[in-house]
Amino acid sequence: MNKSDNISETNEELAEERAPEASVAPEGADVAEGTPDGAAAAAAPDGEVALDYGENILEVRHLKKYFPAEKNFWGKPVSFLKAVDDVSFAIERGQTLGIVGESGCGKTTLGRTILRLNSSSGGEIIFEGRDIANLKPSELRPLRTRMQIIFQDPYSSLPPRYTIGDTISEAAMIHHIVPKSELRDYTLHIMHQCGLQDYYYDRYPHEFSGGQRQRICIARALAVRPEFIVCDEPVSALDVSIQAQIINLLTDLQRKNGLTYMFISHDLSVVEHISDRVGVMYLGSLVEIGDKKDIFGDPEHPYTQALLSAIPVPDPHYKRNRIILEGDIPSPVNPPSGCKFHTRCPKATERCSEEVPELRDLGNGHLAACHFCGR
Ligand SMILES: Nc1ncnc2c1ncn2[C@@H]1O[C@H](COP(=O)(O)OP(=O)(O)OP(=O)(O)O)[C@@H](O)[C@H]1O
Ligand code: SF4
Ligand SMILES: [Mg+2]
Repeated sequence: MNKSDNISETNEELAEERAPEASVAPEGADVAEGTPDGAAAAAAPDGEVALDYGENILEVRHLKKYFPAEKNFWGKPVSFLKAVDDVSFAIERGQTLGIVGESGCGKTTLGRTILRLNSSSGGEIIFEGRDIANLKPSELRPLRTRMQIIFQDPYSSLPPRYTIGDTISEAAMIHHIVPKSELRDYTLHIMHQCGLQDYYYDRYPHEFSGGQRQRICIARALAVRPEFIVCDEPVSALDVSIQAQIINLLTDLQRKNGLTYMFISHDLSVVEHISDRVGVMYLGSLVEIGDKKDIFGDPEHPYTQALLSAIPVPDPHYKRNRIILEGDIPSPVNPPSGCKFHTRCPKATERCSEEVPELRDLGNGHLAACHFCGR
């Protein structure tokens, strides 16, 4: 295993640490199709989601990631945790798609599955025009440099015994990004782009603060010249004062290098700041997606409305009507029938518990999965 190829072996190990059985599950759609209760079929929308806006670097179609939840005596899964359940969307090249939703709704699993750090349980992942959902590891390897991930915790994601220079340069060396003779200069150039000074090159991670470490992680991701980066809560572990600096760095790098981001966060203000489009997830499903101004200015789905109503308002004279959601988030092993949100939705009717709402286009690329949105 190399230490800095942060999208390949390192992350696959992390996945295995978290759930050994799930992460080594065989590739393909068998898990989804074999779901004992047939929920996969029930959850599938009838129509195709409209995806044809601009030049899409990524299109995700009916993506599923089911983890085995319970197994029978013979080790065969009998129930599944539907972490990502029939999700479809697209990201235009050079743009940022923010992904929001409560803890456990499947944001990280979605990002990892798109990058093929998890196997998928069904659906397509069209990256630069090619479906990568079922590629073999050897076929995926050349794509690894094009897709990277930045994690929430910059403390645990840097190898402690390697200098910053080694960590950043190793991925570039392994993937032959530049000739060996140019590696040091190239690494220093990437470090400069990320606001890291030359003398950091020979220093070790423990010598740095959280913000600097996150810059190092960003530099390591950038060193292999990716096109697409999943940023998984990249500022959540940082002091508020540092968060803005990292967000500005990501924005700056995107502009200079034409990067595309999928920016996962539960901090709606950060997502509003950085995103072009925003997707809202609930219990493994995408319930609403649209341009930032539509999602934040005119949210259609009752869940999005409730989420946004919780954002603090800086003006003490203005009181926002907070929508308090009753009840706990249901289990993704046994999600509610019909609309998964019906057990907590203030607008639910009888129909909602029976019929799965389709993700419908309400115009201008704004889609929502609610029977009553836009009607
Ligand atoms: N490797 C795994 N094995 C089994 N279950 C998993 C695994 N990874 C995630 N899950 C489950 O999948 C669901 C979605 O988890 P995920 O980490 O994707 O959520 P999240 O939206 O990123 O949450 P958070 O905001 O807390 O980071 C959760 O119920 C989680 O327990
Ligand atoms: S379909 Fe029904 S339960 Fe679901 S969000 Fe719409 S009103 Fe609420
Ligand atoms: Mg997460």
